[in-house]
Amino acid sequence: MYQDISYAPVLLLYSSRFGQSRTIAERLAGHLNSSGHICTLQNIEKLVTLAQPLDNYAAIVIVASIRYGHFHRRVKAFVQQNLAALNQKLSVFVPVCLIARRQEKRQIETNSYTRKLLAKTGWKPSIISITAGALRYPIYNFFDRFMVRLIMVMMKGDTDTSREYEYTDWEQVHMLAQQIHQQLGTQMPQKTEQANQPLSE
Ligand SMILES: Cc1cc2nc3c(=O)[nH]c(=O)nc-3n(C[C@H](O)[C@H](O)[C@H](O)COP(=O)(O)O)c2cc1C
Repeated sequence: MYQDISYAPVLLLYSSRFGQSRTIAERLAGHLNSSGHICTLQNIEKLVTLAQPLDNYAAIVIVASIRYGHFHRRVKAFVQQNLAALNQKLSVFVPVCLIARRQEKRQIETNSYTRKLLAKTGWKPSIISITAGALRYPIYNFFDRFMVRLIMVMMKGDTDTSREYEYTDWEQVHMLAQQIHQQLGTQMPQKTEQANQPLSE
């Protein structure tokens, strides 16, 4: 279908409250653009109409952050409404959360947020790349700052509320873009793969 993979169009949807997932989606778009792909970036939380029908895209990427244990409701709604297309095409899921700052929590088996969404919707992404987000205490409101700090105390994580911490592994993001580029070349999206790491460890 896409004989010349350098023109395969990619839809990148993001759900982001504090900007990190958007930045990850933008970085992916940058890498894919460099490989010759035409990328459309849209905010899934505010999505009314797609820039083009889903059929026009060779790949669909969803980058979505976790807040208090859940993805934004529009993420689940989009997946449910477009399940057939997502399961037919090359589809990529990039869940963004803090627990993924630990390597062992980047597996489907150990990341319950991801497992639950996929089980509830029936989505079988071609590639899943669970990615660590960021912690930006100064920009949170009082309640969020208090709650996130509490969670970090329990998880023995970073607790200095005057600071911002970025845990995203940008090499992982770069490798994901390369993997998408390669799969667009082969167009074999049936098999679910864990990006950049073995399935079980
Ligand atoms: C209020 C709040 C709640 C959060 N809840 C969780 C959580 O339940 N589990 C987790 O792993 N990360 C949690 N995080 C971390 C976010 O997923 C992380 O900060 C991510 O980078 C946010 O992405 P965004 O900037 O695109 O919104 C939370 C962050 C905030 C600010």
